[in-house]
Amino acid sequence: MTFQKNFLWGSASAAYQIEGAINEDGKGPSIWDIWAHIPGKTFEGTNGDIACDHYHRFQEDIALMKEMGLKTYRFSLSWTRLFPEGTGSVNPEGIRFYNALIDALVDNGIVPMVTLYHWDLPQALQDKYAGWASRDIVEDFVNYSKACFEHFADRVKHWIVMNEPNIFTSLGYIMKLHPPGVHDEALYLKTFHHTVLAHAYTVLAYKEAGYDGMIGSSIAYTPTYAATDRPEDVKAKHMFDVTGPYWFLDSYFKGIYPADGMSYYASKGVMPDVDPDDELVMRKAGSLCDFIGINYYQTAMLAHNPVDGVSFSGMNTSGKKGTQSESGVPGLYKQIHNPNLEYTDWDWAIDPDGLRYGLEILNERYHRPIIISENGLGAYDVVTEDGKIEDDYRIDFLRKHIIACEEAISHGVNLLAYCTWSFTDLLSWLNGYKKRYGFVHIDFENGTLTRTKKKSFDWYKAVIASNGKEV
Ligand code: BG6
Repeated sequence: MTFQKNFLWGSASAAYQIEGAINEDGKGPSIWDIWAHIPGKTFEGTNGDIACDHYHRFQEDIALMKEMGLKTYRFSLSWTRLFPEGTGSVNPEGIRFYNALIDALVDNGIVPMVTLYHWDLPQALQDKYAGWASRDIVEDFVNYSKACFEHFADRVKHWIVMNEPNIFTSLGYIMKLHPPGVHDEALYLKTFHHTVLAHAYTVLAYKEAGYDGMIGSSIAYTPTYAATDRPEDVKAKHMFDVTGPYWFLDSYFKGIYPADGMSYYASKGVMPDVDPDDELVMRKAGSLCDFIGINYYQTAMLAHNPVDGVSFSGMNTSGKKGTQSESGVPGLYKQIHNPNLEYTDWDWAIDPDGLRYGLEILNERYHRPIIISENGLGAYDVVTEDGKIEDDYRIDFLRKHIIACEEAISHGVNLLAYCTWSFTDLLSWLNGYKKRYGFVHIDFENGTLTRTKKKSFDWYKAVIASNGKEV
């Protein structure tokens, strides 16, 4: 078995990380437009005010996608470009922009894959009722989603409702690294639950309206290893799984939270209220999701963490390898360095076989088609004197992950799409413009935003042309 005939070789982005034009054509402010301007919140004060200026240069970017032979392009809609205040009447300029983008993709034979929410909540809803902390968000989110379906579902057949709800809630409500920058475990679980409901009601609305497309959500998925076969390390891995990956995936795709996770949170008095109605809706939506979306970057190795052990430490946002310290929940688990793996400069474990293993677990656990909506290597790229970017390390990373996909397919995984992160270089939320992921280099340093194809561009082009045979 190998990649199916219509396999979607893709690449991905998100509105705030590429579009720029944050004040143009009636767009309202999102929480990131505000947060990135608070001193000390982002790497060297970087923000997405201009980003890649994709808003004005999308035709050029799509021409490059066409040249590459890209089968699908995953991008997100900016909620505040469509609804400047989050609710109310739609901004016609927002509709115009996304219609033009979608039409350009379709005209060039590229399947548009749309994410409804990639972290840029309308600031107006944060101000009105504290955003995700309130159940009110569910209705507003579903109304926004329905408007997107009404305007774009005639051409968009692949919908990702949420991007990494596990990351934006944990970074926003535990680690204080994303807006609103608080530390409150009960609130974190509550906001996550509201994302589950927003996702579930959106899936039901899409299905009830009878659109002929596919819908799901994307979770940042971290498969795990126990550090040793000592029972306390195996238990640590289990508790990480049921409060981490399975907490997120089961609630979205089975419609239930893992029992061990619930009893742990209940014992701490932080378990969110889950009404009987919520359960019904979650289960129904879970069963109706057409695919599981995962963003895969790395695995985690877990070890026992005593009650006086380490807490969550920050993330390596310096790009200095080896500066990430151990991090965990006292009494539950800690995540430690895996000596069997190489790491990136930002201390992310490089583990292609972890992708194969993770895909197989997902297949066993959820019996559903899978879309890899992100996978990629963040690295420092160097432009040579003759203007080339020889990113062999990126090719090596992607090649090994594509081979892992092929192995998973041969073991029965129904993989529909593989999207690299990212097509062009773009803004990393916490790491600025130095951490590059793209096939296309963007000159941020001189502010020209000139696009230059990297070596990996031609390599991925050949991969696509051969449907994965030539890696
Ligand atoms: C995912 C996000 O978490 O990882 C992307 O969906 C993000 O938006 C990507 O950019 C890479 O993360 P980072 O921190 O290296 O930019």
